[in-house]
Amino acid sequence: MERLTLDVNGAFDPAAGGLARADLEAIAPRAREAFEAFETRRRAGEVGFADLPSDAAAAEAARALAGELASRFENLLVLGIGGSSLGGRAVVGALCDPFHNLLPAAARGGMRVFFPDNSDPATFAALLAALDLERTCFATVTKSGGTAETMSQHMVLRQRMVARFGEEGYRARCVLVTDPQKGVLRQIAVDEKLRALPLPASIGGRFSVLSAVGLLPAAAAGADVTALLAGAARTEARCRGGEVLENPALLYAAVLHLMDVRRGRRLHVLMPYADALRDLGDWFVQLWAESLGKNPGAGPTPIRAVGATDQHSSLQLMMEGPHDKLVTLVRVAAPRADVPIPLPEGYRGHADLAYLGGHTMGELIEAERRATAAALRRNGRPTVSLELPRLDAGALGELLMLLELAAAYAGGLYGVNAFDQPGVEAGKKYAQGLLGRPGYEKYRDELLGAPAPDPALVL
Ligand code: PA5
Repeated sequence: MERLTLDVNGAFDPAAGGLARADLEAIAPRAREAFEAFETRRRAGEVGFADLPSDAAAAEAARALAGELASRFENLLVLGIGGSSLGGRAVVGALCDPFHNLLPAAARGGMRVFFPDNSDPATFAALLAALDLERTCFATVTKSGGTAETMSQHMVLRQRMVARFGEEGYRARCVLVTDPQKGVLRQIAVDEKLRALPLPASIGGRFSVLSAVGLLPAAAAGADVTALLAGAARTEARCRGGEVLENPALLYAAVLHLMDVRRGRRLHVLMPYADALRDLGDWFVQLWAESLGKNPGAGPTPIRAVGATDQHSSLQLMMEGPHDKLVTLVRVAAPRADVPIPLPEGYRGHADLAYLGGHTMGELIEAERRATAAALRRNGRPTVSLELPRLDAGALGELLMLLELAAAYAGGLYGVNAFDQPGVEAGKKYAQGLLGRPGYEKYRDELLGAPAPDPALVL
């Protein structure tokens, strides 16, 4: 069977400031340690994401709930932020039609799914105004249960649903994904008798895409979550050893880490040549940033780009700016569709355009990817290549698991805990203090007590 391919040759090209094989040999013992440390935490039940593909019961529960919602409603709002939103959005974006939510029901093969994500009131108000609430249900997704952005959206929708459809109507329209035991939302699930899927304690937000967090919206939209999990299982099976040249996720983590610490390439760009993987880029940014950015001495900066769009934007910087970037180019070998480019009779004399005639848009974007990879290397810029045979659920599952495992191993290589996010928690406390949460006064006072701004610096 064709499978995901990782090719790191572009990061070992001496002309591109690449690594030497000796660098890889030197880091092999630490890579082995990082692998073992992860496996130890996994066996201890502390970190569970790599075992999600074999959790058939959890997948079935998500599929069943999605099927039930789809049989009664047309729209699903996924209320969540960060890891409680990005994974689902990445899967739906990758596997569904690019204009999924605009298609008629018969062509869609699933619900319309919306991820408001941010607590920007302008977006949320506009979304609620655009939807027919009668045909709308919502999934409130929060591991902690107390995330202000998510729970404020939940409270707004709850009030509207109760006002329009009564308590029963609200109960029919609201499902939850949260910690199986802890948190205020679990308590609400009990008090309000709401259906709630568990997000086990061992699954952190940014590692939750293959749990109910990602599976519920994906299944509701009509994506094949069975194949998604099977693909993830294939990568997991390829990553069961600590040898860097045998475990693709370990190799990816080692190369990106070495590029950062040995070659100063601390900006890690993920650049898929497929619009469908645009949201995956956002998911990767969170995965890499929140997992690895833990102290001033460590933490590569992830950047999302999309080919060929960013060839007309940030590529100039990647090509000729500071030598601080490593670009991972993602190729989908067989695009889902292709469009021939005709050459109108009257254009034959225009050499600037005539060469395009007779090609396809697929050939064009592939030529652009190949050319960009080659040009980056010739300009002394290292690259890594990831190739999916096609963009289906299985291949996406392979890719998601590869990147998640790579983040976990990279945590070990950087010497940080990839599974916490103390910096995020600090910001949450200040915001809650400002909004008057009892017990958080010291955070409010600290903010309000900050020195007044220098008026000379305010224009
Ligand atoms: O990856 C993480 O842990 C975070 O990004 C969380 O997903 C995010 O802060 C939302 O948290 P919660 O799911 O508790 O609402």
